[in-house]
Amino acid sequence: MTKEFRIKLNLANSCIQLSLAAVLVVLASLTFPSDCFHHDDHHPEITAALFVFGDSLIDPGNNNYINTSTPFQANFPPYGESFFKYPSGRFCDGRVIPDFIAEYAKLPFIPPYLQIGYQYQLAYGSNFASAGAGALVETFPGFVINLKQQLWYFNEAEKQLRSNLGKTGAERILSNSVYFFSIGGNDYTTDSRTSGIYKSFTPEDYVAMVVGNITAAVEEIYKKGGRKFGVLNLPPLGCIPVYRAADLAAGGTGECNGEITALVKLHNVLLSKKLEHLQKQLKGFRYSYFDIFAVVDEIFDNPSKYGFKEVKSGCCGSGPFRGADSCGGKRGIKEYELCDNPQDYFSFDSGHPTQAANQLFAKLIWAGPANITGPYNLKSLFQISFVT
Ligand SMILES: *[C@@H]1O[C@H](CO)[C@@H](O)[C@H](O)[C@H]1NC(C)=O
Ligand SMILES: *[C@@H]1O[C@H](CO)[C@@H](O)[C@H](O)[C@H]1NC(C)=O
Ligand SMILES: *[C@@H]1O[C@H](CO)[C@@H](O)[C@H](O)[C@H]1NC(C)=O
Repeated sequence: MTKEFRIKLNLANSCIQLSLAAVLVVLASLTFPSDCFHHDDHHPEITAALFVFGDSLIDPGNNNYINTSTPFQANFPPYGESFFKYPSGRFCDGRVIPDFIAEYAKLPFIPPYLQIGYQYQLAYGSNFASAGAGALVETFPGFVINLKQQLWYFNEAEKQLRSNLGKTGAERILSNSVYFFSIGGNDYTTDSRTSGIYKSFTPEDYVAMVVGNITAAVEEIYKKGGRKFGVLNLPPLGCIPVYRAADLAAGGTGECNGEITALVKLHNVLLSKKLEHLQKQLKGFRYSYFDIFAVVDEIFDNPSKYGFKEVKSGCCGSGPFRGADSCGGKRGIKEYELCDNPQDYFSFDSGHPTQAANQLFAKLIWAGPANITGPYNLKSLFQISFVT
């Protein structure tokens, strides 16, 4: 328990390296120089870590480290321009949801699991999310870290925690950590519906399989000692710029894609039912379900109330609604447009929210009211303490 080890904080400017004599210090009362954090809390206490599973909405750059292709990467400008000032791999002009959640939870940035040096940072959690990933292994196979593989990495992380901290220390972290999921959208894209296994199932059975794989992942983590889960449902994906542009190209007026939205609605109903069921079934299981569908719907209906000037067209891309996936000019199309004020936009590129939208989501995920997040919001989930 008094084994010496080092924690390296890989923040934007790779700020400090600490040597710690006792593991318990890490768990209890560690104080960092405040300028190492992008927020101004001076006394961060590590009480719970954050483990993240999902897709491009929350990937902090894991795909920088795998052999994939540019549609699944965002490690070139202008990605990152609003905050990091370099392209970290996030599909955003700035921060993604877990960056804000970590800030609210008084944790440092949670780095991509595949980043060199990750093994020293597990006491804060880890982010396994990968752009393009689905809940099904059949979604973009070979290009992404699918959910099954993300869980495999989590198992590696868990072993590492146990060897670093011993049984009691590891179990304390595992039971008090929050496991955050946002995945499933890629299983319903046009690509997945035309090239995957989609056609061999009824829509209902396919959705049951996607949701089944998400809840199976939750149960596997529960078996390893996880108790606190934050799960996002799916937004109205049919309304992102890429689908509005497709509707226009097909002779429509730039409306939302109804087929995807119908699948998303089925998905959300089933996901919320399954989580309710898990809570009845599993002792000590606590969760926060966030209705991002309702929130996005409301933003689209009242853009100015939420500070947006443009919610249909993206900031970065080309063609109608800037719906062509060309932001950065490295995905086959070289020419692209870039808006001056990403904070006025809901979408940054053809399929991903701006930092402004992510921050709004994160605030509501953290402390939103019961009509959009329940039974717990993430803040109250973090505050639950399991003694082991
Ligand atoms: C990366 O993938 C490409 C195409 O899928 C393949 O030709 C290449 O050998 C792979 N590179 C490595 C290092 O695995
Ligand atoms: C998970 O998805 C696979 C297809 O990738 C499917 O065969 C399996 O039944 C699903 N699991 C659950 C629990 O639904
Ligand atoms: C949730 O309730 C608040 C009032 O507490 C309301 O302003 C908001 O519009 C509701 N959100 C949704 C998505 O229904």
